[in-house]
Amino acid sequence: MDLILMGAKELSNADGGTLYMKDDGHLRFQIIRNDSLDIKMGGNGEPPPSLPPVPLALDDGTPNRTNVVSQSVHEQITINIPDAYDEGRFDFSGTKAFDQRTGYHSTSFLTVPLKPRGGDVIGALQLINARPAGSAEIVPFSPEIQRFVEALAAQAATALYNRELLDAQERLMDAMIQIIAGAIDAKSPYTGGHCERVPELSLMLAEEACKVTEGPLADFAFHTPEQWREFKIGAWLHDCGKVTTPEYVVDKATKLETIHNRIHEVRMRFEVLLRDARIERLEAIAAGRTAAAEAAFEARRAELVEEFAFIAECNLGGEFMAPERVERLKDIAKRTWMRHFDDRLGLSQEELRRMESLPAAPLPAMETLLADKPNHVIARPKNAAVFDQAFRFKTRIPDNLYNFGEIYNLGIGRGTLTEEERFKINEHIIQTIIMLERMPFPKHLSRVAEYAGTHHETLSGTGYPRCLEAGDLSIPSRITAIADIFEALTASDRPYKKPKTLSECVKILSFFKKDRHIDPDLFDLFLSSGVYLRYAERYLRPDQIDAVDISQFVTRPS
Ligand SMILES: [Fe+2]
Ligand SMILES: [Fe+2]
Repeated sequence: MDLILMGAKELSNADGGTLYMKDDGHLRFQIIRNDSLDIKMGGNGEPPPSLPPVPLALDDGTPNRTNVVSQSVHEQITINIPDAYDEGRFDFSGTKAFDQRTGYHSTSFLTVPLKPRGGDVIGALQLINARPAGSAEIVPFSPEIQRFVEALAAQAATALYNRELLDAQERLMDAMIQIIAGAIDAKSPYTGGHCERVPELSLMLAEEACKVTEGPLADFAFHTPEQWREFKIGAWLHDCGKVTTPEYVVDKATKLETIHNRIHEVRMRFEVLLRDARIERLEAIAAGRTAAAEAAFEARRAELVEEFAFIAECNLGGEFMAPERVERLKDIAKRTWMRHFDDRLGLSQEELRRMESLPAAPLPAMETLLADKPNHVIARPKNAAVFDQAFRFKTRIPDNLYNFGEIYNLGIGRGTLTEEERFKINEHIIQTIIMLERMPFPKHLSRVAEYAGTHHETLSGTGYPRCLEAGDLSIPSRITAIADIFEALTASDRPYKKPKTLSECVKILSFFKKDRHIDPDLFDLFLSSGVYLRYAERYLRPDQIDAVDISQFVTRPS
């Protein structure tokens, strides 16, 4: 903007000039220069002059045509006034009052609208008091000068307009990125805020890393605002692949959970078995075997109650499924009950298709209490993007997308997730990479996919999905990996669990350092620079923040 005004002023040898920008129904002063009065307001990175803006409309809503700048903008024309004091079309009372106050004499005015090619007027340029080269005499702006200034204004307006378009596009892109991050955070009430905090923490650590002048981090720096932006976008999008992770997997709390907890279905089968036992009892009584029937029923009932309690406990996933527990589960699963209804009614096309390999049994059909059936298995499409060699994924990919088998799920060794669901969780990073590598990022953002897609890799090569080695991992990638782990550790986690204290989190993170999962120098810097504490003070609950003796973790004080 400075260049436009100064260029036009120089071209016309004008004594003064003002640049206005259109904003919200007004023309706001951006820069004012007057050589004779030595006035320099705005420009050169200074805030614009705080003068009341020129309204483009009058109080009654009609266009403001009494002000020369406003009229120039409305009509999109240049207005060349040889002498303001001889001018009757416009209101120059303000100018005249200014002249009286300052002893100045505003005479010739050249007002040019700033109209970019293909766009609307964005502002106006006004030059005051033209002077012939090398003279102090005030003259009107000549038609040649007017043409030059108009050409310059058109070019400058286009440049400004393009800049504004670029800024608007950047703002839009940032907003869309934040919408994606917000949507992911909204998916799970337990991990909410993760995608928002990881970039914050990543930036804090990156800023410290840029200050380091010695050791392995000495050469690291982001040199341009674009590099910072690229890094920040990578951190914002680091988990964007989670949009593909079903909520039930993210928060799977019991083994039989799919969209709902299928323990209710299993419990209902126990109810059926108990009723069968009751019928047996009644039949025995009717046959005159009363005492034996009562005893058998009571024994059966106690057995069923106990067996259901065992199945329900398996479903919670709190206890390791030792081989004997799995055997017991399989034994209980073998109990049978009679199904009198067609199990292919009320099913979706997809469910029916999965049952095709199993011929319908004649009714009544014998069913086992628990089963792994072919229709529990959802196969992985062979053409899935995860198989695309171009992405160089090395993680083992389970054959099936899901396996909802009841025994299979209840037999899960630790936790509540099957191998397929565990992969589904980890697949978020694969999806992040697929999404971001397919995006047509401009050259200055070309490393976004790298920064976002490496936060589960480790220096020892044990990470996923590409099993990268230390040499493949850039400093920004290593920073995001630390931020990701630390945020997840410190987050309040499940509502029923007590959140970890700061010292506990730092200690766990130190194990990641010891195992060469994270960069040891960045970990040390994370502690010695106080980033861990500043972050904690900002985002952790006060009762989580306890004293941390960082000396026991830091190897290389910086
Ligand atoms: Fe992740
Ligand atoms: Fe993450």
